[in-house]
Amino acid sequence: MRHYVISLLVLLPALMLLSLIQPFITGFVERPIGPEYVSLPTDAGDAARGEALYRSRCYGCHVPEAKVGPAHNTIDFKVRYADAEVVALVVRAGRPPMPAFTEQMLSDQELADIIAYLESLQPSK
Ligand code: HEC
Repeated sequence: MRHYVISLLVLLPALMLLSLIQPFITGFVERPIGPEYVSLPTDAGDAARGEALYRSRCYGCHVPEAKVGPAHNTIDFKVRYADAEVVALVVRAGRPPMPAFTEQMLSDQELADIIAYLESLQPSK
């Protein structure tokens, strides 16, 4: 009887803990990040709207002074990310410490706008 109570005392909190973290584990493992799972922006992007979005969602990390993420107005970036699809893939999949921008965080249209803005940038160096 005593063993039963003790194992219950150990098992129950353990199970509760597990159920708490389970969505994080499976959510992470099951999150598809291959190109075939990324819904690519099909609508034409609007660079002006994209600039506003970029300033509020991306600039904080990607402005050179922040020294967090790489700047996007460089030739290096233009060459490696010439394909809008690749940009969309990275933004949707995330790249730690950059979060994965899901459809809930950034709609397809907003992503298309941001990509249009990035494409409009003139490389500075
Ligand atoms: C929390 C900070 C943060 C935010 C917010 C953020 N990024 Fe990033 N981003 C990074 C970091 C850091 C990297 C580089 C990761 C690495 O070293 O692999 C990166 C990488 C990238 C890359 C790949 C660049 C390359 O040269 O490899 C792209 C494209 C990108 N981010 C676009 C965006 C866009 C678009 C947004 C806004 C919707 C955004 N990021 C928001 C931090 C951030």
